[in-house]
Amino acid sequence: MPKKVYIFDTTLRDGEQSPGVSLNVQEKLEIARQLERLGVDAIEAGFPVASKGDFEAVKAIAQNVRRPVIVALARAVKQDIDRAWEAIKYAARPRIHTFIATSDIHMKYKLKMEPEEVLKRAVEMVSYAKSLCEDVEFSPEDGTRTRPEFLFKVLEAVIDAGATVINIPDTVGYAMPEEFGALIRSIRENVRNIDKVMLSVHCHNDLGLAVANSLAAIRNGAQQVECTINGLGERAGNAALEEIVMAIKTRSDYFNYYTDIVTEQIYRTSTMVSHLTGVHVQPNKAIVGANAFAHESGIHQHGVLSNRQTYEIMTPESIGLKQSQMVLGKHSGRHAFEERLKELGFTNLMPEEINAAFEKFKDLADKKKYVMDKDIEALVNEKVLKVP
Ligand code: KIV
Ligand code: ZN
Repeated sequence: MPKKVYIFDTTLRDGEQSPGVSLNVQEKLEIARQLERLGVDAIEAGFPVASKGDFEAVKAIAQNVRRPVIVALARAVKQDIDRAWEAIKYAARPRIHTFIATSDIHMKYKLKMEPEEVLKRAVEMVSYAKSLCEDVEFSPEDGTRTRPEFLFKVLEAVIDAGATVINIPDTVGYAMPEEFGALIRSIRENVRNIDKVMLSVHCHNDLGLAVANSLAAIRNGAQQVECTINGLGERAGNAALEEIVMAIKTRSDYFNYYTDIVTEQIYRTSTMVSHLTGVHVQPNKAIVGANAFAHESGIHQHGVLSNRQTYEIMTPESIGLKQSQMVLGKHSGRHAFEERLKELGFTNLMPEEINAAFEKFKDLADKKKYVMDKDIEALVNEKVLKVP
């Protein structure tokens, strides 16, 4: 039986930490409502202690978005946890997510704390969060650069203190997929009572491996993945939700897992996030880039027009797009060109007229990056049919 992978979306928290991105309360609420339609299991709505606006946004989401778990982030500090709880206590299913760094470099230079102090603080703050909220997630920040013995010790202690979700962050995107998979497996094998809680991962994309690392973690026992729409997030971003979900769905022969994501809502969500954050999606971005379902070369166009599966491993409809796109350029072939003529209403052209039009089109394609429909209409009307 395939196992469920829980999708924890952090677009509104880690995604909003992208340089230059700031969403107001209404915008965050609009995205949260769309994430609910998309079918995510949890929405990390923000970091309430960070600003009054973020507090209000988390509160509004907790009050209005009822199906997913609503999560608020807090450092392992009482004031943060109080503020997080104030904002999410209205939610149907609230969760406090608290974190503290556990790697030597972070403890020494950032926290200026000894490992034993960090351990004590983690336990105290998880217990405190638990006194307010039944569902408590704990993250050992910079988990992948933490000494494994210390990591296991902290995780056991916070589970004893009441954590319900243990999240392993690859905070600086340092891990390699096999290594990260092995870390998750070793946590499963070495941490007492790990089977009583949900094991989650949170991968950053500094080396372009966030999605690969998340998928390796799933295959080694992670049940929840934290990710963002369009891979938005600090520096090079977080793991892209749409890539993880479509990899699991498209390669169900490889992954014995499923998600509850309504994949037909992916494109709409991506466009909304891009529009509201002002962060454009690169054209060749997997799944949601403008070119992800576009075919330019004649060989590919001919293949797709004969059988879409020749060059499409998933359908555009499965992510909510109407159809794939045939981009006409200098590499395009006659087959696609004739199809476009028909779509544009030129259904009665004689073979020699089609030949002439194709020749003119190739001349134009050598001069222009894109040949638009209006260019084709003009060249057929003016140069082939000689419409006055
Ligand atoms: O990347 C990170 O370590 C985080 C934690 C707060 C989970 O975002
Ligand atoms: Zn992060």
